[in-house]
Amino acid sequence: MFKNLLFLVLLQQFYKKIKMLTVSNLSVQFGKRILFDEVNTTFTQGNCYGIIGANGAGKSTFMKIIAGEMDPTSGRVILEPGKRMSVLDQNHNLFDEHTVLETVLMGNKVLHAIKTEMDALYADYTDENANRIGELQLQFDEMNGWNAESDAATMLSNLEIGAEHHYTLMNEMDGKLKVRVLLAQALFGNPDVLIMDEPTNDLDFETIGWLENFLANYDNTVLVVSHDRHFLDAVCTHVSDIDFGKITHYSGNYTFWYESSQLAARQKAQQNKKAEEKKAELEEFIRRFSANVAKSKQATSRKKMIEKLNLDEIKPSSRRYPAIIFDVEREAGDQILNIQNLSASVDGEVLFKGVDLNMAKGDKIVVFSKDSRATTAFYEILNKQQTPDSGTFDWGITTTQSYLPVDNHEFFDGVDLNLVDWLRQWVKTEEERDEVYVRGFLGKMIFSGEEALKKCNVLSGGEKVRCMLSRMMMIRANVLMLDEPTNHLDLESITAFNNSLSNFKGSVLFTTHDHEFAQTVGNRILELTPNGAIDRYMTFDEYLEDEKIKELRLKMYS
Ligand SMILES: Nc1ncnc2c1ncn2[C@@H]1O[C@H](COP(=O)(O)OP(=O)(O)O)[C@@H](O)[C@H]1O
Ligand SMILES: [Mg+2]
Repeated sequence: MFKNLLFLVLLQQFYKKIKMLTVSNLSVQFGKRILFDEVNTTFTQGNCYGIIGANGAGKSTFMKIIAGEMDPTSGRVILEPGKRMSVLDQNHNLFDEHTVLETVLMGNKVLHAIKTEMDALYADYTDENANRIGELQLQFDEMNGWNAESDAATMLSNLEIGAEHHYTLMNEMDGKLKVRVLLAQALFGNPDVLIMDEPTNDLDFETIGWLENFLANYDNTVLVVSHDRHFLDAVCTHVSDIDFGKITHYSGNYTFWYESSQLAARQKAQQNKKAEEKKAELEEFIRRFSANVAKSKQATSRKKMIEKLNLDEIKPSSRRYPAIIFDVEREAGDQILNIQNLSASVDGEVLFKGVDLNMAKGDKIVVFSKDSRATTAFYEILNKQQTPDSGTFDWGITTTQSYLPVDNHEFFDGVDLNLVDWLRQWVKTEEERDEVYVRGFLGKMIFSGEEALKKCNVLSGGEKVRCMLSRMMMIRANVLMLDEPTNHLDLESITAFNNSLSNFKGSVLFTTHDHEFAQTVGNRILELTPNGAIDRYMTFDEYLEDEKIKELRLKMYS
């Protein structure tokens, strides 16, 4: 008896970290294109895997196969028996005919099926039914079904969806709130494995913050594809890199993966450096990184991962990062931009009102608003593409500006030029017209060789943004205006872009959905609201967390 017990305890210890998902000999091929080639890997209980990889690497395909929504060419995915998986749906309209509360309850499919059958049987009660009802009720009890509604309601209020919305139909919900309901649905009933493909895409900073917190303290297995570095850093214990048809897991969050693989690449290039020196350098890097994470205020169960960072795993990255470098043609003087009493509206609706701003040299201002129409109107006015309702603005005479609009279609639609000729539109001298010179710019943005001769109107969204950035690099302005610059870019480009803006010597006005970008580039926040502006010299995180500012923001938007 005692022996048996001991055996059980040992067994339990051994299986403490069970393999939640096993991927076995998985291959996926579309026509000639091989996306996955004999992938064997496991996802372990309690870990959160951030799935990364270049555009088109196969992240979404992989998630669909894991979720059972798509069959691989060969191989299989095995979920641990008795475990439940749930998927955050990308189609936001699937539940339009259901109420909010019902939508959440449907997240636990088994429980929902039991409840539906039970309700139907009760409605048509016979002695024969009674037995079946009894059975169902037992299962319902075991699954804590009687608390389901109140659990769902709590979940909704945690996501700040008040009781007044619980019986609203999904198709009557505001887009942002709808995403929150779907989030609640995916999380409902505490699934053992949670699958999410780019969950932060349509969310505001507050909701992303909530999700970061939730997942960081969530003990179950999570697989998430994301381009949001702040999010990945907040939630991941592992980074799973899809490259060359394989998947490789690395311990640590995104920043750790990025920094360590860069360090490994540098070390690889330093042929003559001694092995011990390299080892010492890596150890020092890990020590510093771990100390920083320990200091950060996210006190979460996920943080345990840091103990497990190890040297053997670190490999140089094979990724290509675009060389985004913003030079300035000439330095600006002290006067950059002066705005007085600027207001704008659309169809009689006030977007922002009475904005005053004195922009100093070197300011990197996060232009922020709950309404993206406000920030876009602000840039359009400063670029003389729209007239304000009131107010004036003056650019300093030594300033030169360049603008990356959120919508770049006018630069490409109906334009029949190859990339070299397209970029030539912005050269300043005869010397710059030279094909080799222009190709140099394109090469830096990873349009090398033949790629540079592609027609500009066939480009993907990400490629167009890379062209627009080449254009900005060529203009060499000392003031940059960027409206949602990271849209459509992959993680490599976002990371490179972020680094170059942090190092930029000029001044910047920018608006972004990327938290890390806002936090690491901005030193001043300008929030545009229908009741005026809030203007503070502080970091984006400080701004979001400041209690006084929170109160003020509530008032300014009401
Ligand atoms: N059903 C399909 N048939 C053919 N090609 C597909 C199909 N689904 C995806 N692809 C292709 O497979 C590649 C990977 O797509 P996807 O998984 O969406 O990439 P990611 O999410 O990493 O950007 C892309 O080149 C895409 O065009
Ligand atoms: Mg995808």
